[in-house]
Amino acid sequence: MNHEPYKLIPEGFTAVPSIEGDEPELHFVDGFDQLDAIGVLVPSEGDVPASVGLHREALESAGFDGKPGSTLQLANASGTLVVAVGGGKPGSLDADGRRKAAAALVRATQRHARIGFELSDTEGIDAEQLGQVLAEGVLLARYSYETLKSKSKQAALREVQFLAPGLDSAPEDRAAADRGLTTGRVKVRATTIARDLCNAPPSHLTAAGLGEVSQELGKRFGFTVEEFDKQQLIDLRCGGLLGVNAGSAQEPRMIKLSYKPEGSPTGHLGLVGKGIMYDSGGVSLKPSDPMHLLMKMDMGGAAAVLAVFTALRDLGCTSAVTGFLMCTDNMPSGSAYKLGDVLTTRSGLTIEVKNTDAEGRLVMCDALTLAVEDKVDGIVDIATLTGAALMSLGQLTAPVFGNDQGLVDRVLASGNRADEQVWQLPLERAYRPQLDSDVADISNLGGPYAGSTTAALFLAEFVGETPWAHIDIAGTMQSDKDDAWRSKGATGFGARLLIDLALGYSAG
Ligand code: BES
Ligand code: MN
Ligand code: ZN
Repeated sequence: MNHEPYKLIPEGFTAVPSIEGDEPELHFVDGFDQLDAIGVLVPSEGDVPASVGLHREALESAGFDGKPGSTLQLANASGTLVVAVGGGKPGSLDADGRRKAAAALVRATQRHARIGFELSDTEGIDAEQLGQVLAEGVLLARYSYETLKSKSKQAALREVQFLAPGLDSAPEDRAAADRGLTTGRVKVRATTIARDLCNAPPSHLTAAGLGEVSQELGKRFGFTVEEFDKQQLIDLRCGGLLGVNAGSAQEPRMIKLSYKPEGSPTGHLGLVGKGIMYDSGGVSLKPSDPMHLLMKMDMGGAAAVLAVFTALRDLGCTSAVTGFLMCTDNMPSGSAYKLGDVLTTRSGLTIEVKNTDAEGRLVMCDALTLAVEDKVDGIVDIATLTGAALMSLGQLTAPVFGNDQGLVDRVLASGNRADEQVWQLPLERAYRPQLDSDVADISNLGGPYAGSTTAALFLAEFVGETPWAHIDIAGTMQSDKDDAWRSKGATGFGARLLIDLALGYSAG
């Protein structure tokens, strides 16, 4: 059994994310009770709320300027820590700013189990949205991957009380705010699943393992899961996924997820996720630089799509959603696919492999074909596809491409609401000849420039006329540091955006 000792899995380890257990209580209150720490939103000018117990001069002399994202911890005689949380110019905090403020408070109270948050005003923000962003900020910032640590470095969060003036006078607002907390919680649970799966070591989570995790989650959260193994993928003629898998000691999996709403669906959305469990580059081996240490997260697209399905029933999604997770690792070996090999895809198109490290587009193309065959109204794919996405837009913004402006606009709007920033780049058809091949219908490698665009142009070949958008999360899949709602490590980027998009999706 111990011939691969590095795969020895600690007792109690499960790749199924630990989503049940001691969830903190979150609620709006009329007054604080029994807290270890209290955060108070303090604007950058004007009156300082009385609960801070200090004047502006005192805060300023301690270096607190009230800028959004800033915090100052104030020990005091009562033993309850008071944290001034920067609120920016009075009245300037939008929903996004409040999510960030909640995250900043949580980062300043890592050792505290019961936290209060006093919001100075709730003007100009919908009560339900307020609940949602507060839950998201708090819970996403408290995340850390500790499954494989012997000791936890932060205290378990037991309770967060929100004091929001204005809400107490209107019972219907209060109910809406509570609903928002629940929605936020469900979205964070989904994001946590995506993060845990991305953070899991590559030898602990294989393609077949992700299949098992999907089955488990499907039972719990009300969606169906079909797994396709190597033989079934051969029967389906998925030559792209099979080609990439050729060098692997592990079997590939295509995992098909389906959600159906109770009534008649408002539309049918197809989601496709890149599930490279580990990307070594294959025969076009990657160098051992720190970025490539992160290639266990090359299944971040698949993780985001799976995460979306865990939220649909609980959030009352009205559209049908079909997901495809395209899973294998990309390894060099005696049986690996080679440069110059030609793969035949399900669509019939043949592909010349000019670089085995451009494997993402090869596994995605078969799923795009299958989604089109399923006659979905629109397809959104999500993939850690190109280093060029990281080079062009960095770690905070993901490029989006598409053949249908309406669908791209919806992706942009959902990204805004979720604070998962996306920015449209052009699907410049003039670059398409870069993908020409002398021996096959198309090659998997473009020229030296606009790498994200040529990758998107490759994918576009497989969607025909079906409205389609492609999100490249190579840059945004992880964060080098704790930063607002992003906790260091995998970000789960795309899960909240795609949930927002799926909930009320309709054709056109
Ligand atoms: N998984 C990588 C892209 C990636 C890079 C994700 C950095 C996250 C961080 C992808 O499979 C890849 O290797 N892309 C190549 C494509 C190239 C060979 C055309 C790249 O971007 O270098
Ligand atoms: Mn690669
Ligand atoms: Zn990859």
